[in-house]
Amino acid sequence: MNCPLPFPLRFGTHLIELKMKDKPKSETSLPIEEIIKAAERLPPFPAVIWKVMSLLRRMAPASEIEAVIQYDQAIAAKVLALSRSAYYARRHAIGSLRDAIVALGDEQLTRVVMTACAGRYFESEISGYELREGQLWQHAVATALLAETAARRLGEKKVMTVYTAGLLHDIGKAVLSFYVKTYLDAILTRMSRKGIPFLDAERQTLGMDHQQLGEMIAKRWRFPPEVVAGIGYHHCPKKAKAHQDIAAAVFVANRTAKAMGFGCGMESLVESYEDEVFQLLGITPGKAAQFWTDMSDVSDDIKHVVSEESPVLGLAQE
Ligand SMILES: [Fe+2]
Ligand SMILES: [Fe+2]
Repeated sequence: MNCPLPFPLRFGTHLIELKMKDKPKSETSLPIEEIIKAAERLPPFPAVIWKVMSLLRRMAPASEIEAVIQYDQAIAAKVLALSRSAYYARRHAIGSLRDAIVALGDEQLTRVVMTACAGRYFESEISGYELREGQLWQHAVATALLAETAARRLGEKKVMTVYTAGLLHDIGKAVLSFYVKTYLDAILTRMSRKGIPFLDAERQTLGMDHQQLGEMIAKRWRFPPEVVAGIGYHHCPKKAKAHQDIAAAVFVANRTAKAMGFGCGMESLVESYEDEVFQLLGITPGKAAQFWTDMSDVSDDIKHVVSEESPVLGLAQE
């Protein structure tokens, strides 16, 4: 499915809004300090995920894991809602949190708790990127599932690391959206005058792009270096040094999620497709057909997690 970009009609609406209220005083004054302060005000990543992972490592009883998850009622509700989605509950009847803990198994439970924890940062409208409420969340879940699929297909062992980096790759947008909306006029002008991609115009206008901000946020949240690199280089994986494989899996998943129609927005404008990344991942022309078949098979799974009937979109309505 092609990405139904609203360009240029809805950009026009934004430009009018900017002229009416938030137009920056000077296009040369970068709001980077204010952006960093806003990112520092984000609540810490919920500690429940680290506690659950630690309990799972020492094979603690389900009652202990349940007690830890239930300590945060909002997270517990999201864990239960996700566990009951058509994707996770395929083979199990999940009536309670305890059922989910017992039925899902360690890996699925970790994935569900991580997803539930991340969900709280994606609940509002990300209008600066032309994304409606819930669309960045859909994109995050789609990228996570696709990145994990790519990682498995390519023999990457750290699939949970790749999943987490995919889930949080655009976390910088949660903060940057307001500034992108405010400075949209300047960003679009730079794009058209210089013929540069959205990401470059975003960085040149705001002093920082959403990749860099995401990297900073992930470091503050004390995610491991592989996850930080997967977020910080998801548009330029070759720069990720020791963690190129993780960043490349997120790069391919991000592009595939958008091509499937899961979250497009302005980031898709003037993007280049780099065959080098596919080489980096070892996806030769001979292997490409099977790789894309595997990736497209994930489409239904994504829909089961993020469909409007599923409880996941209900995250925004709690
Ligand atoms: Fe991005
Ligand atoms: Fe993305």
